[in-house]
Amino acid sequence: MYTAKMRELIKKVEATRPRRFGIQHPRMTPQEREEVLNQCHPDYKEEGFRNIRLGVNKGLKVPLELANLIEAKSRLDNVAIDLDHISYDVDVLIIGGGGAGASAALEAYNKGANVLITTKLRFGDANTMMAEGGIQAADKPEDSPSKHYMDVMGGGHYTNVPNLVNALVGDAPKAIKWLNDMGVMFDKQEDGTMVTTHGGGTSRKRMHAAADYTGAEIMRVLRDEVINKGIEVVDFSPAVEIILDQEGKAAGAVLYNLETQEYLIARAKTVIITTGGAGRLHYQGFPTSNHYGATADGLVLGYRAGAELAFADTIQYHPTGVAFPPQIFGALVTEKVRSLGATPLNIDGEQFVFHLETRDVEASAVIRECLVRDKGIDTPTGGKGVWLDSPLIEMIHGEGTIEKRLPGMLRMYKKFGIDMRKEPILVYPTLHYQNGGLLINESGQTKVENLYVAGEASGGVHGRNRLMGNSLLDIIVFGRRAGSHAGEKSKDVELKKLSLEHVKVYHQSLKENGVETDRVAPMMLPHYTHGREDHVKKERSEKLHA
Ligand code: FUM
Repeated sequence: MYTAKMRELIKKVEATRPRRFGIQHPRMTPQEREEVLNQCHPDYKEEGFRNIRLGVNKGLKVPLELANLIEAKSRLDNVAIDLDHISYDVDVLIIGGGGAGASAALEAYNKGANVLITTKLRFGDANTMMAEGGIQAADKPEDSPSKHYMDVMGGGHYTNVPNLVNALVGDAPKAIKWLNDMGVMFDKQEDGTMVTTHGGGTSRKRMHAAADYTGAEIMRVLRDEVINKGIEVVDFSPAVEIILDQEGKAAGAVLYNLETQEYLIARAKTVIITTGGAGRLHYQGFPTSNHYGATADGLVLGYRAGAELAFADTIQYHPTGVAFPPQIFGALVTEKVRSLGATPLNIDGEQFVFHLETRDVEASAVIRECLVRDKGIDTPTGGKGVWLDSPLIEMIHGEGTIEKRLPGMLRMYKKFGIDMRKEPILVYPTLHYQNGGLLINESGQTKVENLYVAGEASGGVHGRNRLMGNSLLDIIVFGRRAGSHAGEKSKDVELKKLSLEHVKVYHQSLKENGVETDRVAPMMLPHYTHGREDHVKKERSEKLHA
Protein backbone atom coordinates (compact mmCIF):
# COMPACT_ATOMS: atom_id res chain seq x y z
CA MET A 1 0.00 0.00 0.00
CA TYR A 2 1.56 3.31 -1.07
CA THR A 3 1.96 6.16 1.40
CA ALA A 4 0.11 9.44 0.88
CA LYS A 5 3.35 11.06 -0.32
CA MET A 6 3.89 8.33 -2.89
CA ARG A 7 0.31 8.68 -4.08
CA GLU A 8 0.94 12.37 -4.71
CA LEU A 9 4.00 11.50 -6.80
CA ILE A 10 2.05 8.92 -8.78
CA LYS A 11 -0.14 11.79 -10.00
CA LYS A 12 2.89 13.12 -11.89
CA VAL A 13 3.29 9.74 -13.59
CA GLU A 14 -0.37 9.80 -14.58
CA ALA A 15 -0.06 13.36 -15.86
CA THR A 16 2.84 12.58 -18.22
CA ARG A 17 1.50 9.19 -19.39
CA PRO A 18 -0.64 10.39 -22.34
CA ARG A 19 2.31 12.38 -23.70
CA ARG A 20 4.72 9.46 -23.28
CA PHE A 21 2.44 6.76 -24.68
CA GLY A 22 3.71 5.40 -28.02
CA ILE A 23 6.91 7.47 -27.95
CA GLN A 24 10.18 5.53 -27.80
CA HIS A 25 12.94 7.00 -25.66
CA PRO A 26 16.25 7.18 -27.60
CA ARG A 27 18.86 4.48 -26.94
CA MET A 28 22.21 5.54 -25.56
CA THR A 29 25.23 5.96 -27.79
CA PRO A 30 28.18 3.64 -27.06
CA GLN A 31 29.95 6.60 -25.43
CA GLU A 32 26.96 7.37 -23.17
CA ARG A 33 26.85 3.72 -22.15
CA GLU A 34 30.53 3.75 -21.19
CA GLU A 35 30.02 6.95 -19.21
CA VAL A 36 27.11 5.70 -17.14
CA LEU A 37 28.83 2.37 -16.46
CA ASN A 38 31.98 4.11 -15.27
CA GLN A 39 30.06 6.53 -13.15
CA CYS A 40 27.52 4.24 -11.52
CA HIS A 41 27.95 0.51 -12.07
CA PRO A 42 29.03 -1.24 -8.84
CA ASP A 43 31.65 -3.25 -10.78
CA TYR A 44 33.53 0.01 -11.30
CA LYS A 45 33.74 0.81 -7.57
CA GLU A 46 37.27 -0.17 -6.63
CA GLU A 47 36.47 -0.24 -2.92
CA GLY A 48 34.19 -3.25 -3.51
CA PHE A 49 37.08 -5.47 -4.65
CA ARG A 50 40.50 -6.77 -3.75
CA ASN A 51 43.07 -9.17 -5.15
CA ILE A 52 43.20 -12.74 -3.90
CA ARG A 53 46.47 -13.67 -2.29
CA LEU A 54 46.85 -17.33 -3.20
CA GLY A 55 45.85 -20.12 -5.52
CA VAL A 56 45.89 -20.54 -9.29
CA ASN A 57 44.62 -17.00 -9.88
CA LYS A 58 46.75 -15.31 -7.24
CA GLY A 59 46.47 -11.55 -7.81
CA LEU A 60 43.04 -11.73 -9.44
CA LYS A 61 40.54 -8.99 -8.54
CA VAL A 62 37.31 -10.32 -7.04
CA PRO A 63 34.57 -8.86 -4.79
CA LEU A 64 35.69 -8.44 -1.18
CA GLU A 65 33.17 -10.90 0.15
CA LEU A 66 34.27 -13.57 -2.32
CA ALA A 67 37.96 -12.92 -1.60
CA ASN A 68 37.24 -13.52 2.08
CA LEU A 69 35.69 -16.90 1.32
CA ILE A 70 38.43 -17.93 -1.07
CA GLU A 71 40.99 -17.09 1.58
CA ALA A 72 39.12 -19.01 4.27
CA LYS A 73 40.01 -22.33 5.84
CA SER A 74 38.44 -25.61 4.92
CA ARG A 75 35.59 -26.91 7.03
CA LEU A 76 37.72 -30.04 7.35
CA ASP A 77 40.54 -28.28 9.17
CA ASN A 78 41.11 -30.41 12.28
CA VAL A 79 38.37 -32.88 11.30
CA ALA A 80 39.36 -36.54 10.97
CA ILE A 81 38.12 -37.86 7.63
CA ASP A 82 38.39 -41.51 6.71
CA LEU A 83 38.66 -41.56 2.92
CA ASP A 84 38.39 -45.36 2.88
CA HIS A 85 34.92 -45.21 4.37
CA ILE A 86 32.89 -44.66 1.21
CA SER A 87 29.19 -43.88 1.55
CA TYR A 88 28.41 -43.28 -2.13
CA ASP A 89 30.30 -44.79 -5.05
CA VAL A 90 29.19 -43.53 -8.45
CA ASP A 91 30.31 -42.73 -11.99
CA VAL A 92 29.15 -39.11 -11.98
CA LEU A 93 28.70 -36.96 -8.89
CA ILE A 94 26.70 -33.77 -9.41
CA ILE A 95 27.03 -31.12 -6.72
CA GLY A 96 23.94 -28.89 -6.85
CA GLY A 97 20.28 -29.57 -7.48
CA GLY A 98 19.15 -26.75 -9.76
CA GLY A 99 18.49 -26.72 -13.49
CA ALA A 100 22.11 -27.27 -14.54
CA GLY A 101 22.50 -30.19 -12.13
CA ALA A 102 19.28 -31.84 -13.23
CA SER A 103 20.10 -31.40 -16.94
CA ALA A 104 23.58 -32.83 -16.38
CA ALA A 105 22.14 -35.79 -14.48
CA LEU A 106 19.72 -36.64 -17.27
CA GLU A 107 22.42 -36.64 -19.96
CA ALA A 108 24.92 -38.56 -17.83
CA TYR A 109 22.18 -41.11 -17.15
CA ASN A 110 21.56 -41.34 -20.92
CA LYS A 111 25.19 -42.32 -21.31
CA GLY A 112 24.59 -45.24 -18.98
CA ALA A 113 26.34 -43.66 -15.99
CA ASN A 114 25.43 -44.28 -12.39
CA VAL A 115 24.63 -40.73 -11.19
CA LEU A 116 24.27 -39.08 -7.79
CA ILE A 117 22.95 -35.55 -7.24
CA THR A 118 23.78 -34.02 -3.91
CA THR A 119 22.12 -30.75 -2.89
CA LYS A 120 22.59 -28.29 -0.07
CA LEU A 121 18.89 -27.72 0.51
CA ARG A 122 16.13 -29.54 -1.34
CA PHE A 123 16.28 -30.66 -4.97
CA GLY A 124 15.12 -27.59 -6.88
CA ASP A 125 16.01 -24.97 -4.24
CA ALA A 126 18.00 -22.97 -6.73
CA ASN A 127 18.11 -19.77 -8.76
CA THR A 128 16.55 -21.73 -11.64
CA MET A 129 13.35 -21.83 -9.63
CA MET A 130 13.43 -18.06 -9.21
CA ALA A 131 13.93 -17.28 -12.93
CA GLU A 132 10.93 -15.52 -14.35
CA GLY A 133 11.16 -13.82 -17.73
CA GLY A 134 12.27 -16.48 -20.15
CA ILE A 135 14.86 -18.43 -22.08
CA GLN A 136 16.44 -17.27 -25.33
CA ALA A 137 16.72 -19.34 -28.51
CA ALA A 138 16.90 -18.28 -32.15
CA ASP A 139 14.31 -20.71 -33.50
CA LYS A 140 12.11 -18.41 -35.58
CA PRO A 141 12.53 -17.82 -39.34
CA GLU A 142 13.56 -14.16 -38.99
CA ASP A 143 16.25 -15.09 -36.44
CA SER A 144 19.43 -17.18 -36.47
CA PRO A 145 22.09 -18.45 -34.04
CA SER A 146 24.54 -16.02 -35.62
CA LYS A 147 22.28 -13.06 -34.77
CA HIS A 148 21.92 -14.48 -31.27
CA TYR A 149 25.72 -14.81 -31.12
CA MET A 150 26.23 -11.14 -31.98
CA ASP A 151 23.73 -10.06 -29.31
CA VAL A 152 25.42 -12.20 -26.63
CA MET A 153 28.86 -10.87 -27.54
CA GLY A 154 27.62 -7.27 -27.66
CA GLY A 155 25.91 -7.66 -24.29
CA GLY A 156 29.13 -9.07 -22.82
CA HIS A 157 31.21 -6.16 -24.23
CA TYR A 158 32.91 -8.64 -26.61
CA THR A 159 34.80 -10.21 -23.72
CA ASN A 160 32.94 -13.56 -23.78
CA VAL A 161 34.84 -16.72 -24.72
CA PRO A 162 33.75 -17.13 -28.38
CA ASN A 163 33.63 -20.95 -28.41
CA LEU A 164 31.37 -20.97 -25.38
CA VAL A 165 28.99 -18.46 -26.96
CA ASN A 166 29.00 -20.51 -30.13
CA ALA A 167 27.97 -23.58 -28.13
CA LEU A 168 25.30 -21.61 -26.25
CA VAL A 169 23.54 -20.16 -29.27
CA GLY A 170 24.08 -23.22 -31.49
CA ASP A 171 22.43 -25.59 -28.99
CA ALA A 172 19.66 -23.15 -28.05
CA PRO A 173 16.94 -24.30 -30.50
CA LYS A 174 17.61 -27.94 -29.47
CA ALA A 175 17.38 -26.94 -25.82
CA ILE A 176 13.90 -25.46 -26.32
CA LYS A 177 12.78 -28.54 -28.25
CA TRP A 178 14.17 -30.83 -25.52
CA LEU A 179 12.27 -28.95 -22.83
CA ASN A 180 9.10 -28.70 -24.88
CA ASP A 181 9.18 -32.41 -25.69
CA MET A 182 9.53 -33.24 -21.99
CA GLY A 183 6.46 -31.17 -21.19
CA VAL A 184 7.51 -27.63 -20.31
CA MET A 185 4.42 -25.53 -20.91
CA PHE A 186 5.80 -22.62 -22.92
CA ASP A 187 3.44 -19.79 -23.90
CA LYS A 188 2.06 -20.56 -27.35
CA GLN A 189 -0.27 -19.01 -29.87
CA GLU A 190 -3.40 -20.87 -30.90
CA ASP A 191 -1.63 -22.52 -33.83
CA GLY A 192 1.06 -23.88 -31.48
CA THR A 193 3.76 -21.34 -32.40
CA MET A 194 5.84 -20.24 -29.42
CA VAL A 195 5.21 -16.69 -28.20
CA THR A 196 8.53 -14.82 -28.18
CA THR A 197 9.45 -11.35 -26.91
CA HIS A 198 12.45 -9.03 -26.69
CA GLY A 199 14.79 -8.73 -23.73
CA GLY A 200 17.35 -6.01 -23.08
CA GLY A 201 19.96 -6.07 -25.85
CA THR A 202 18.21 -8.54 -28.18
CA SER A 203 17.90 -7.74 -31.87
CA ARG A 204 15.09 -10.27 -32.40
CA LYS A 205 12.17 -11.50 -30.31
CA ARG A 206 13.59 -14.80 -29.05
CA MET A 207 12.53 -14.95 -25.39
CA HIS A 208 10.43 -18.08 -24.77
CA ALA A 209 8.47 -18.00 -21.53
CA ALA A 210 5.97 -19.77 -19.34
CA ALA A 211 4.12 -16.66 -18.13
CA ASP A 212 6.46 -15.13 -15.52
CA TYR A 213 7.44 -18.36 -13.81
CA THR A 214 9.57 -19.84 -16.59
CA GLY A 215 12.30 -21.16 -14.28
CA ALA A 216 9.84 -22.83 -11.93
CA GLU A 217 8.13 -24.52 -14.86
CA ILE A 218 11.43 -25.76 -16.28
CA MET A 219 12.56 -26.99 -12.85
CA ARG A 220 9.24 -28.78 -12.34
CA VAL A 221 9.76 -30.82 -15.48
CA LEU A 222 13.47 -31.49 -14.96
CA ARG A 223 12.90 -32.60 -11.39
CA ASP A 224 10.09 -34.94 -12.42
CA GLU A 225 12.25 -36.38 -15.14
CA VAL A 226 15.18 -37.05 -12.77
CA ILE A 227 12.90 -38.65 -10.19
CA ASN A 228 11.13 -40.75 -12.82
CA LYS A 229 14.44 -42.09 -14.10
CA GLY A 230 15.31 -43.18 -10.56
CA ILE A 231 18.44 -41.03 -10.35
CA GLU A 232 19.55 -40.82 -6.72
CA VAL A 233 19.25 -37.41 -5.05
CA VAL A 234 20.58 -36.67 -1.58
CA ASP A 235 19.05 -33.54 -0.06
CA PHE A 236 20.51 -31.33 2.69
CA SER A 237 24.01 -32.62 2.03
CA PRO A 238 26.26 -29.89 0.66
CA ALA A 239 29.73 -30.74 -0.60
CA VAL A 240 32.36 -29.14 1.61
CA GLU A 241 35.48 -30.25 -0.26
CA ILE A 242 36.31 -31.80 -3.63
CA ILE A 243 38.29 -35.02 -3.28
CA LEU A 244 41.14 -35.55 -5.74
CA ASP A 245 42.95 -38.80 -6.36
CA GLN A 246 46.67 -39.25 -5.95
CA GLU A 247 47.20 -38.10 -9.54
CA GLY A 248 45.36 -34.84 -8.88
CA LYS A 249 42.19 -35.82 -10.75
CA ALA A 250 38.75 -35.07 -9.34
CA ALA A 251 37.46 -38.20 -7.63
CA GLY A 252 34.47 -37.22 -5.51
CA ALA A 253 33.55 -34.93 -2.65
CA VAL A 254 33.20 -34.81 1.11
CA LEU A 255 29.53 -34.18 1.89
CA TYR A 256 28.16 -32.74 5.09
CA ASN A 257 24.81 -34.08 6.21
CA LEU A 258 23.06 -31.01 7.64
CA GLU A 259 20.69 -33.14 9.70
CA THR A 260 23.05 -35.67 11.27
CA GLN A 261 26.12 -33.37 11.07
CA GLU A 262 28.19 -36.26 9.70
CA TYR A 263 30.80 -36.01 6.99
CA LEU A 264 30.31 -38.59 4.24
CA ILE A 265 32.52 -39.62 1.36
CA ALA A 266 31.14 -39.70 -2.17
CA ARG A 267 33.59 -41.31 -4.57
CA ALA A 268 33.06 -40.58 -8.25
CA LYS A 269 34.85 -41.01 -11.55
CA THR A 270 33.81 -37.55 -12.68
CA VAL A 271 32.44 -34.59 -10.71
CA ILE A 272 30.21 -31.76 -11.95
CA ILE A 273 29.83 -28.56 -9.92
CA THR A 274 26.42 -26.96 -10.46
CA THR A 275 26.10 -24.95 -7.27
CA GLY A 276 24.80 -21.72 -8.83
CA GLY A 277 25.36 -18.14 -7.74
CA ALA A 278 26.42 -15.85 -4.94
CA GLY A 279 23.63 -13.33 -4.35
CA ARG A 280 23.49 -14.13 -0.65
CA LEU A 281 26.97 -12.65 -0.26
CA HIS A 282 25.23 -9.26 -0.80
CA TYR A 283 28.12 -7.67 -2.64
CA GLN A 284 28.41 -3.96 -1.89
CA GLY A 285 25.44 -4.18 0.44
CA PHE A 286 22.89 -4.89 -2.32
CA PRO A 287 19.73 -6.87 -1.66
CA THR A 288 19.32 -9.94 -3.85
CA SER A 289 16.83 -11.77 -6.00
CA ASN A 290 18.67 -15.06 -5.29
CA HIS A 291 17.54 -18.09 -3.34
CA TYR A 292 18.72 -18.64 0.20
CA GLY A 293 21.53 -21.04 -0.67
CA ALA A 294 23.34 -18.83 -3.19
CA THR A 295 26.67 -18.43 -1.36
CA ALA A 296 29.35 -19.11 -4.03
CA ASP A 297 30.14 -22.57 -2.62
CA GLY A 298 31.17 -24.05 -5.96
CA LEU A 299 33.68 -21.28 -6.60
CA VAL A 300 35.36 -21.98 -3.26
CA LEU A 301 35.41 -25.76 -3.76
CA GLY A 302 36.61 -25.61 -7.34
CA TYR A 303 39.28 -22.99 -6.68
CA ARG A 304 40.73 -24.91 -3.75
CA ALA A 305 40.93 -27.99 -5.98
CA GLY A 306 42.88 -26.03 -8.60
CA ALA A 307 40.25 -24.82 -11.11
CA GLU A 308 40.67 -21.31 -12.51
CA LEU A 309 38.31 -18.39 -12.02
CA ALA A 310 37.26 -16.18 -14.92
CA PHE A 311 35.31 -12.90 -14.88
CA ALA A 312 34.82 -13.26 -11.14
CA ASP A 313 34.93 -9.47 -10.78
CA THR A 314 31.79 -8.94 -12.83
CA ILE A 315 28.43 -9.09 -11.14
CA GLN A 316 24.96 -8.53 -12.53
CA TYR A 317 22.66 -6.09 -10.77
CA HIS A 318 19.20 -6.53 -12.20
CA PRO A 319 17.85 -3.06 -12.98
CA THR A 320 14.46 -3.77 -11.44
CA GLY A 321 14.41 -5.27 -8.00
CA VAL A 322 11.54 -4.35 -5.68
CA ALA A 323 12.29 -1.05 -3.88
CA PHE A 324 8.91 -0.97 -2.15
CA PRO A 325 7.17 -2.53 -0.22
CA PRO A 326 9.95 -3.46 2.22
CA GLN A 327 8.61 -6.97 2.84
CA ILE A 328 9.78 -8.00 -0.65
CA PHE A 329 12.76 -5.64 -0.91
CA GLY A 330 15.19 -6.87 -3.57
CA ALA A 331 12.83 -9.47 -5.09
CA LEU A 332 12.90 -9.71 -8.86
CA VAL A 333 10.62 -7.63 -11.04
CA THR A 334 11.10 -9.55 -14.23
CA GLU A 335 12.55 -7.82 -17.27
CA LYS A 336 9.47 -9.10 -19.05
CA VAL A 337 7.62 -6.18 -17.46
CA ARG A 338 9.80 -3.88 -19.56
CA SER A 339 9.71 -6.26 -22.55
CA LEU A 340 5.96 -5.76 -22.55
CA GLY A 341 6.38 -1.98 -22.58
CA ALA A 342 6.67 -0.65 -19.00
CA THR A 343 9.16 2.22 -18.85
CA PRO A 344 11.36 3.57 -16.02
CA LEU A 345 10.43 7.07 -14.81
CA ASN A 346 11.95 9.52 -12.36
CA ILE A 347 10.28 11.57 -9.63
CA ASP A 348 8.92 14.00 -12.25
CA GLY A 349 7.23 11.18 -14.14
CA GLU A 350 9.78 11.49 -16.96
CA GLN A 351 11.54 8.61 -18.70
CA PHE A 352 15.32 8.88 -18.33
CA VAL A 353 16.59 5.79 -20.18
CA PHE A 354 15.45 3.49 -23.00
CA HIS A 355 13.66 0.65 -21.25
CA LEU A 356 15.61 -2.21 -22.83
CA GLU A 357 19.26 -1.22 -22.63
CA THR A 358 21.47 -4.13 -21.58
CA ARG A 359 21.20 -4.85 -17.86
CA ASP A 360 24.46 -3.29 -16.74
CA VAL A 361 23.63 -0.03 -18.54
CA GLU A 362 19.98 0.03 -17.45
CA ALA A 363 20.91 -0.63 -13.80
CA SER A 364 23.58 2.08 -13.89
CA ALA A 365 21.10 4.57 -15.32
CA VAL A 366 18.68 3.83 -12.47
CA ILE A 367 21.44 4.29 -9.90
CA ARG A 368 22.52 7.56 -11.55
CA GLU A 369 18.98 8.90 -11.57
CA CYS A 370 18.65 8.20 -7.84
CA LEU A 371 22.11 8.89 -6.44
CA VAL A 372 23.73 11.38 -8.81
CA ARG A 373 20.85 13.34 -10.27
CA ASP A 374 18.74 13.08 -7.13
CA LYS A 375 15.65 12.30 -9.20
CA GLY A 376 14.67 9.12 -7.39
CA ILE A 377 11.68 8.54 -5.16
CA ASP A 378 12.34 8.14 -1.42
CA THR A 379 10.98 5.00 0.21
CA PRO A 380 9.67 5.04 3.79
CA THR A 381 12.60 2.83 4.91
CA GLY A 382 15.26 5.28 3.71
CA GLY A 383 15.93 3.80 0.27
CA LYS A 384 15.43 5.14 -3.24
CA GLY A 385 13.70 3.89 -6.34
CA VAL A 386 12.32 4.84 -9.72
CA TRP A 387 8.86 4.16 -11.09
CA LEU A 388 8.24 1.39 -13.58
CA ASP A 389 5.11 2.45 -15.42
CA SER A 390 3.37 -0.93 -15.57
CA PRO A 391 -0.12 0.38 -16.56
CA LEU A 392 1.39 1.14 -19.98
CA ILE A 393 1.40 -2.61 -20.63
CA GLU A 394 -2.38 -2.79 -20.64
CA MET A 395 -2.56 0.35 -22.78
CA ILE A 396 -0.24 -1.23 -25.36
CA HIS A 397 -1.45 -4.84 -25.40
CA GLY A 398 -4.98 -4.56 -24.04
CA GLU A 399 -6.75 -5.21 -20.77
CA GLY A 400 -5.99 -8.56 -19.18
CA THR A 401 -2.39 -8.73 -20.49
CA ILE A 402 -0.79 -8.40 -17.07
CA GLU A 403 -2.99 -11.09 -15.57
CA LYS A 404 -2.18 -13.43 -18.45
CA ARG A 405 1.52 -12.73 -19.03
CA LEU A 406 2.64 -11.58 -15.57
CA PRO A 407 0.44 -13.43 -13.09
CA GLY A 408 3.24 -13.89 -10.56
CA MET A 409 4.09 -10.19 -10.52
CA LEU A 410 0.45 -9.19 -10.25
CA ARG A 411 -0.09 -11.52 -7.31
CA MET A 412 3.12 -10.49 -5.56
CA TYR A 413 2.13 -6.81 -5.56
CA LYS A 414 -1.54 -7.42 -4.85
CA LYS A 415 -0.60 -9.03 -1.53
CA PHE A 416 0.59 -5.59 -0.49
CA GLY A 417 -2.37 -3.66 -1.84
CA ILE A 418 -0.67 -2.49 -5.06
CA ASP A 419 -2.44 -3.11 -8.36
CA MET A 420 0.28 -2.85 -11.00
CA ARG A 421 -2.34 -2.75 -13.75
CA LYS A 422 -3.41 0.66 -12.48
CA GLU A 423 -0.44 2.00 -10.51
CA PRO A 424 3.27 2.10 -11.33
CA ILE A 425 5.66 0.07 -9.18
CA LEU A 426 8.83 1.24 -7.46
CA VAL A 427 12.13 -0.44 -8.38
CA TYR A 428 15.90 -0.28 -7.76
CA PRO A 429 18.74 -2.60 -8.85
CA THR A 430 19.14 -5.88 -6.98
CA LEU A 431 22.05 -8.34 -6.97
CA HIS A 432 20.94 -10.97 -9.46
CA TYR A 433 23.72 -12.99 -11.06
CA GLN A 434 27.45 -13.70 -11.09
CA ASN A 435 28.56 -13.19 -14.67
CA GLY A 436 31.77 -15.14 -14.09
CA GLY A 437 32.86 -18.23 -12.18
CA LEU A 438 35.06 -21.26 -12.81
CA LEU A 439 36.45 -21.29 -16.32
CA ILE A 440 35.15 -24.08 -18.56
CA ASN A 441 35.54 -25.28 -22.11
CA GLU A 442 32.69 -26.23 -24.47
CA SER A 443 32.21 -29.57 -22.69
CA GLY A 444 32.05 -27.94 -19.27
CA GLN A 445 35.53 -29.20 -18.32
CA THR A 446 37.87 -27.26 -16.07
CA LYS A 447 41.65 -27.59 -16.10
CA VAL A 448 41.37 -30.12 -13.25
CA GLU A 449 40.99 -33.49 -14.90
CA ASN A 450 37.50 -35.01 -14.46
CA LEU A 451 36.13 -31.83 -12.84
CA TYR A 452 33.29 -30.11 -14.70
CA VAL A 453 31.20 -27.02 -14.03
CA ALA A 454 27.87 -25.92 -15.52
CA GLY A 455 25.48 -23.01 -15.05
CA GLU A 456 25.98 -19.95 -12.89
CA ALA A 457 29.08 -21.34 -11.16
CA SER A 458 30.91 -21.36 -14.51
CA GLY A 459 32.69 -18.46 -16.14
CA GLY A 460 33.35 -17.34 -19.71
CA VAL A 461 29.99 -17.76 -21.44
CA HIS A 462 28.62 -14.31 -20.65
CA GLY A 463 31.80 -12.27 -20.50
CA ARG A 464 31.27 -9.13 -18.46
CA ASN A 465 27.49 -8.95 -18.73
CA ARG A 466 24.79 -11.51 -19.38
CA LEU A 467 21.61 -10.81 -21.32
CA MET A 468 18.20 -11.78 -19.98
CA GLY A 469 17.15 -15.33 -20.82
CA ASN A 470 20.68 -16.59 -21.43
CA SER A 471 20.98 -17.98 -17.92
CA LEU A 472 18.17 -20.50 -18.25
CA LEU A 473 19.67 -21.31 -21.62
CA ASP A 474 23.15 -21.68 -20.15
CA ILE A 475 22.03 -24.17 -17.48
CA ILE A 476 20.32 -26.36 -20.07
CA VAL A 477 23.02 -26.19 -22.77
CA PHE A 478 26.05 -26.55 -20.51
CA GLY A 479 24.31 -28.82 -18.02
CA ARG A 480 23.58 -31.21 -20.86
CA ARG A 481 27.04 -30.88 -22.39
CA ALA A 482 28.80 -31.44 -19.06
CA GLY A 483 26.55 -34.37 -18.17
CA SER A 484 27.02 -36.05 -21.49
CA HIS A 485 30.80 -35.58 -21.53
CA ALA A 486 31.28 -36.58 -17.89
CA GLY A 487 29.04 -39.63 -18.36
CA GLU A 488 31.04 -40.78 -21.37
CA LYS A 489 34.38 -39.98 -19.78
CA SER A 490 33.57 -41.91 -16.62
CA LYS A 491 33.68 -45.13 -18.65
CA ASP A 492 37.45 -44.77 -19.06
CA VAL A 493 38.37 -43.48 -15.61
CA GLU A 494 40.33 -45.72 -13.29
CA LEU A 495 40.21 -44.23 -9.82
CA LYS A 496 43.39 -44.08 -7.79
CA LYS A 497 43.65 -43.67 -4.02
CA LEU A 498 41.55 -40.76 -2.73
CA SER A 499 43.32 -37.75 -1.30
CA LEU A 500 42.68 -34.44 0.47
CA GLU A 501 46.33 -33.43 0.27
CA HIS A 502 45.41 -30.33 -1.78
CA VAL A 503 43.47 -29.00 1.20
CA LYS A 504 46.55 -29.28 3.40
CA VAL A 505 48.60 -27.57 0.71
CA TYR A 506 46.00 -24.78 0.50
CA HIS A 507 46.18 -24.25 4.25
CA GLN A 508 49.95 -24.12 4.04
CA SER A 509 49.66 -21.58 1.26
CA LEU A 510 47.37 -19.41 3.40
CA LYS A 511 50.17 -19.21 5.96
CA GLU A 512 52.88 -18.63 3.38
CA ASN A 513 50.94 -15.77 1.87
CA GLY A 514 50.34 -14.10 5.21
CA VAL A 515 46.62 -14.80 5.36
CA GLU A 516 45.42 -14.98 8.92
CA THR A 517 41.81 -15.92 9.19
CA ASP A 518 39.34 -17.78 11.35
CA ARG A 519 36.75 -17.89 8.59
CA VAL A 520 35.71 -21.24 7.12
CA ALA A 521 34.30 -21.85 3.67
CA PRO A 522 32.19 -22.84 1.82
CA MET A 523 29.79 -20.63 3.71
CA MET A 524 26.80 -22.92 2.94
CA LEU A 525 24.16 -20.75 4.61
CA PRO A 526 24.11 -16.96 4.80
CA HIS A 527 24.17 -15.51 8.28
CA TYR A 528 22.33 -12.28 8.68
CA THR A 529 24.09 -11.07 11.79
CA HIS A 530 25.45 -7.64 12.59
CA GLY A 531 28.84 -9.22 13.20
CA ARG A 532 29.28 -10.21 9.60
CA GLU A 533 27.95 -7.00 8.13
CA ASP A 534 30.14 -4.89 10.40
CA HIS A 535 33.18 -6.88 9.37
CA VAL A 536 32.58 -6.34 5.66
CA LYS A 537 31.71 -2.67 6.17
CA LYS A 538 34.89 -2.15 8.18
CA GLU A 539 37.00 -3.80 5.52
CA ARG A 540 35.42 -1.73 2.75
CA SER A 541 35.87 1.48 4.66
CA GLU A 542 39.50 0.66 5.52
CA LYS A 543 40.17 0.03 1.85
CA LEU A 544 38.45 3.27 0.86
CA HIS A 545 40.51 5.30 3.32
CA ALA A 546 43.85 3.51 2.85
O1 FUM B 1 14.16 -10.50 -15.53
C1 FUM B 1 14.11 -11.71 -15.52
O2 FUM B 1 13.08 -12.32 -15.68
C2 FUM B 1 15.36 -12.45 -15.34
C3 FUM B 1 15.79 -13.23 -16.29
C4 FUM B 1 17.20 -13.63 -16.36
O3 FUM B 1 17.99 -13.27 -15.48
O4 FUM B 1 17.57 -14.28 -17.34
